[in-house]
Amino acid sequence: MSADLVEAAVAAMARAYAPYSNFPVGAALRADSGAIYAGCNVENASYPEGWCAEASAIAAMVMGGETRIREAAVAGEGAALVTPCGGCRQRLREFASDHLEIHICGPEGLRKTVTLGELLPLSFGPESLA
Ligand code: THU
Repeated sequence: MSADLVEAAVAAMARAYAPYSNFPVGAALRADSGAIYAGCNVENASYPEGWCAEASAIAAMVMGGETRIREAAVAGEGAALVTPCGGCRQRLREFASDHLEIHICGPEGLRKTVTLGELLPLSFGPESLA
C-alpha cells in the first residue's frame, strides 16, 4: 500500500460536491507512469445525473494521457466501508486487471485492501470482445 495514494484519496474527498447525499467520496488512481490522478463525486439537482469519485479520477487519468491503472484508493466517511459501486467496478475494469488492489479508506487512512477480482468476479472486459 502506498501512503501517497491513500492521502490523495482522502484529500480528494474534501473536494466532493455532494450537497444532496452529504456523502463525500474521494478516489485516487496510480497509473502506469507512477502519476496519481484523483477525483471526487459530483452531484446534480437532477439526482441521477451525478457521478462518482472513481469516474472523476478515471476522467483525469485519461486526460493525462494514461489508460492503465496500477493501484487504486477510495475514501469515504462513516463507519461502513465505502467500496466502489457496481458501475464503477466495471469502469475500473476497463483500465485494470482482476489483480488491481483497491485500498478502501476512511478519513483516518487505510481500512481494508481488496482486489478488483474480488469485487467483480468473472468480469467482462475489453479482451472479452476480442
Ligand atoms: N459514490 C461514489 O462517489 N463512489 C462510490 O464508490 C460509491 C458512491 C457517491 C455517489 C453519490 O454522490 C454518493 O456517493 C452517495 O451515493
